[in-house]
Parts: sequence; structure tokens; C-alpha cells
Amino acid sequence: MEINKNVCIVGMGYIGLPTAALLANRGFRVHGVDVNKKAVDTINKGEIHIVEPELDTFVKSAVNSNMLSAHLEPTEADIFLVAVPTPFHHDKLNSVTNSPIPNLDYVKSATQAIAPFVKPGNLVLLESTSPVGTTEMMAAELEAAGVDLSEIHVAHSPERVLPGQIMRELIENDRVVGGINPASTKAAAEFYRTFVEGEVLETTSKTAEMAKLTENAFRDVNIAFANELSMLCDDMGIDVYELITLANHHPRVNVLQPGCGVGGHCISVDPWFIVNSANGKAKMTEQARRTNDYKSEWVAEKVKNAALEFEKAQGRAPIIACMGLAFKPDIDDLRESPALYITQKLNESHNVIAVEPNIEEFDGLKLVSEEEASNADILVYLVAHKEFKAHAFSEKSIDFAGLFKR
Ligand SMILES: NC(=O)c1ccc[n+]([C@@H]2O[C@H](COP(=O)([O-])OP(=O)(O)OC[C@H]3O[C@@H](n4cnc5c(N)ncnc54)[C@H](O)[C@@H]3O)[C@@H](O)[C@H]2O)c1
Repeated sequence: MEINKNVCIVGMGYIGLPTAALLANRGFRVHGVDVNKKAVDTINKGEIHIVEPELDTFVKSAVNSNMLSAHLEPTEADIFLVAVPTPFHHDKLNSVTNSPIPNLDYVKSATQAIAPFVKPGNLVLLESTSPVGTTEMMAAELEAAGVDLSEIHVAHSPERVLPGQIMRELIENDRVVGGINPASTKAAAEFYRTFVEGEVLETTSKTAEMAKLTENAFRDVNIAFANELSMLCDDMGIDVYELITLANHHPRVNVLQPGCGVGGHCISVDPWFIVNSANGKAKMTEQARRTNDYKSEWVAEKVKNAALEFEKAQGRAPIIACMGLAFKPDIDDLRESPALYITQKLNESHNVIAVEPNIEEFDGLKLVSEEEASNADILVYLVAHKEFKAHAFSEKSIDFAGLFKR
């Protein structure tokens, strides 16, 4: 495929903007689209509105060379690439599995926005992590809007990049590409091979969608096992970290680490997409999700019990310092964060202060310095941020983050 093409990328977030900046630096003319005007204005100044190493350099050079510009509306292009959010509805449950339902509203509105501009010969790509059948649904929406599907190619290629390493992984990672028909798969694979140095693996759109969900569900199930062990070990008086280290010496065992739950917009969300479409058959995937969510309730209960013990002994309610709010170490991302959930839950009934080195304020919580928190009566370590690694473990500390493991 020639690189001298126009690409319209819908969604200028953690996935869309790095992809846009990379493609623009590789010779594609990129028209970025976002509904967020502030993001559009920032990008057009050659600046970035999200935190990702090296992205600023890529965006600056792409905008300065006029290969990338951002807009509120799509335009005609050779290739359309959709990278909008795919969360779940917090307030709607599947009546069979009582599990959250995927929210595909963003994909639908992005598809409706590009439909008037899609013309014969175009390639339409969905990169958002999606329930099985979403790419076909997108194609059906385009057809309903008057696009002749026999004249275009539609495919899915899930994104697997790790925040913090996106610019490198966009190029180096292997890529699964699946079209709604073999010609779409070929056209999409040809596009990705222009900038991906990893293997480009061809399949169908449904298998590509399920591959991404499988990767995240695999990790969720493994972490659920670790979290289950952590609760059993607590009853048995066994150090779960020592236990897992010993078990992992087996050449074919690799148990992941327990935590205070599982968060983020991927691992704690995507397995529900499998559960929701499985009609009650995805029992293990569902149980893993529920175990990981339950771990956060369990942690909150443990802290409440410790607070009760303190009150009995000291005759006053303790000040509880929650250490870390983000969903994983050394980031500022609070999406679906179990640490934030636990802190808010404790804050409803207890005297709580919180430390989160990566953010400055959070509505409804009293954020304090590490120094101030060290004077609290109970220190609850929820996230293994690098700042906390220098702390000394004391009888005031409760560690759910594996910071003080042997
Ligand atoms: N961030 C990651 O590390 C990561 C990794 C793998 C997969 N994914 C998946 O990629 C997809 C995008 O994730 P993200 O992290 O980039 O999300 P994000 O929230 O950072 O960015 C999405 C952007 O889309 C914009 N948007 C929403 N609806 C729109 C519309 N109709 N038209 C134009 N713009 C619209 C939002 O304003 C936002 O700027 C999701 O499905 C996510 O699960 C993300």
C-alpha cells in the first residue's frame, strides 16, 4: 500500500492520538476527530492533553509539518479508523447473568459521523476493544446510512499497547487483524504492515474481537486466583507472596500477584463483554470478575475491623490514611480503580485521609502529603506507587499492595 493516503481517525485519546501522530510522521495525512473541543485545540497547537512519554515530540512534529490536524467533524479520507471508548453501563444489567451491559453508544455515534464521508474503495477500521459482532454491527450501520458494503472494506484490529510505552509498542507489537470478509482482512493487514514491525496476524473480525477479550479475561482469571489465594492465606496465617513465589518456581506455573481488586478500563471491563454475550455459559470468566470485585469489599471490611480494634483499645476513632488511589502503580488513571472505591467506601463511615502522588485533588476526599499521612493511626497501602517503596512497614501499616512482601 502507498503511504501517500488520507486517514481520518475518530477519537483522539490514549489510542487515537498516538496512532494519528505515528501515522502522520510516517507520511500519512491525518485528520483527527474528537468531540472534545479542548482536545482538538490543544492538538492543533502541537501540544497534548494526555500523559504519554514521547507523544509530545511526535504530535509537535506531525502538526508542524501539516500532516496532522484535529477537528470536531470527520472528512473524506481513504482510511477511517475509530478509537472511541467502549465502557459498560454501570446502571444496566443483563437479565440472564446479572452482569453489566457494554455501552456501544460511542462506536455507534462515531460510525454515524463518518458514514456520510465513506465512499467506494475506503477502508474502515475499528480499534476500540469491542464485544464480538461489533465490527459487523458497524458495517450494518454504514449500510443503513447508504454505504454500499460491496465497495468498501471493514475490519477490526484490537489495540494491545501498554500505557507508558505506547509509541514503541504501536510499532513493535504483533497485531491481530480481522475483516468482515477476506478482502477486508487483506486490505486492513496491508495497511497495518506499512507501520507495524511485529507480525500482522490475519483472521475474521469476530475472532479478532474475541482475541482481545480473551487476553484480558486470561489476566483477570489469573489475578482472581491470586486474590482468592490471598484471602485464604489470610485465614491460614500464610504469606501469600511467599506462597506464590514458591509455586511459581514450578517451570509451568505463573500465578500473577494479588492486589486490592482489579481496575482500569481494560481488564476490569472487557471480561464482562464475554459474560454478557455468553448466555450464562461464561461461568469462570464471570466468577473471576466477581472475585476481583469482591476482593475490594473484603479489603474495606478488613480495614473497618482494624479501625474497630483501634477504637476499642484507644477509646477514639482512628485516622485512616489510604495510600494510593490509582488503578495501578505510578499512573494518574483512576478509571474503575479499586483503591479509589475502597477509599470512598471507608470515607463514608470513617475519618479518612488519602495520599495519591500522581494527582493533586479529588472531589470529596482529603488528599494529604506522605508526611502528614505518616501521622495517621492506620496506614492502608492500596497501590504500590514507587514513592511508597521507601516507607518503613510498622504495626500501623496494612499492606494490600505487596509493597512490603519478602
Ligand atoms: N488506553 C489504552 O491503554 C487502551 C489499550 C488497548 C485498548 N484500548 C481501547 O481503545 C479504545 C479507546 O480507548 P482510549 O484509552 O483511547 O480512550 P480515551 O477515553 O482516552 O479516548 C477516546 C476519545 O474519543 C473521544 N470520543 C468519544 N466519542 C466520540 C465520537 N463520537 N466522535 C469523536 N470522538 C469521540 C473522546 O472525547 C476521547 O477523547 C477503547 O475501546 C479502549 O478499551 C485502550
